[in-house]
Amino acid sequence: MAEKRPDHSFSLQGTALVTGASSGLGRHYAEFLARAGLDLILVARRADELKELAEGVLQRHGRAATVLPTDLTDRAARRALMAEVTDRGVQVDVLVNNAGFGTKGNFAELEPDRIIREIELNCVALTELARHFLPGMIERRHGAIINIASTAGFQPWPTMSVYGATKAYVRSFSQALWSETRGTGVRVLSVCPGATDTEWMANTGSPGMLPRRRTTEQVVQSTFRALNRDALEVVDGPLNRLTSFVAAVAPARVVLPIARQWAKG
Ligand SMILES: NC(=O)c1ccc[n+]([C@@H]2O[C@H](COP(=O)([O-])OP(=O)(O)OC[C@H]3O[C@@H](n4cnc5c(N)ncnc54)[C@H](OP(=O)(O)O)[C@@H]3O)[C@@H](O)[C@H]2O)c1
Repeated sequence: MAEKRPDHSFSLQGTALVTGASSGLGRHYAEFLARAGLDLILVARRADELKELAEGVLQRHGRAATVLPTDLTDRAARRALMAEVTDRGVQVDVLVNNAGFGTKGNFAELEPDRIIREIELNCVALTELARHFLPGMIERRHGAIINIASTAGFQPWPTMSVYGATKAYVRSFSQALWSETRGTGVRVLSVCPGATDTEWMANTGSPGMLPRRRTTEQVVQSTFRALNRDALEVVDGPLNRLTSFVAAVAPARVVLPIARQWAKG
């Protein structure tokens, strides 16, 4: 008789905090989690979009969504967000560290303030939120941190240099946390979407880049399937898995000109 495979499924419950919930992937993560029965804390800068999502979530799924508009590149605003969550007595059971952006161009010509904000959002805010919410999850022996990295984190990316480096950071950081949290009841997952149909491309300053795109639904489905099997990392989509694997093992001199081509458009 075939041996029964162990059930690693993760029980989604409690409250999820989703950053970058005003559009794209974050919006779909929030919708998925509310449908699964979680209450939400929605974070991004655009308050109107968050409020509209919160009303929709209540109507469609009967779940409460608290809107906390925050510029996550602002250290004081981040601290105020974390204090507000504590003051409201909310325990965060699922943290989706999703907010992020990229900047297209040769590094020497990039606007200095913008690249500092990019690192602050993609790396510093993600790290600070994880540090704030992880101890409570470990204490309760339940929780999940879902960090949105990218296939851009598998190789250096000329003309998207800072972005690629921030996503390599997210992959490395998340995988170390995955290891540190073994046996605590907490899961940490690094999610690597490839090109996905959101506002992200337009926000990099290159709307025509990478025209073959996956849907946000596909990325969200890949994420929760991976969380259920207790994966260390998930690359969304078979073609992205193949290119990421090749990019990670091939010599940089071979990969760099190809990666540079990806950013054209
Ligand atoms: N789309 C892709 O091809 C792709 C591929 C790989 C990885 N990713 C990653 O996936 C994640 C989600 O991106 P997306 O594709 O859904 O793009 P998106 O539609 O542009 O969403 C980005 C989100 O981040 C929020 N955000 C930006 N700056 C912020 C700030 N200073 N403070 C707080 N929130 C901020 C935005 O909200 P506000 O503007 O309202 O603040 C928005 O909700 C990002 O980490 C991105 O790097 C995307």
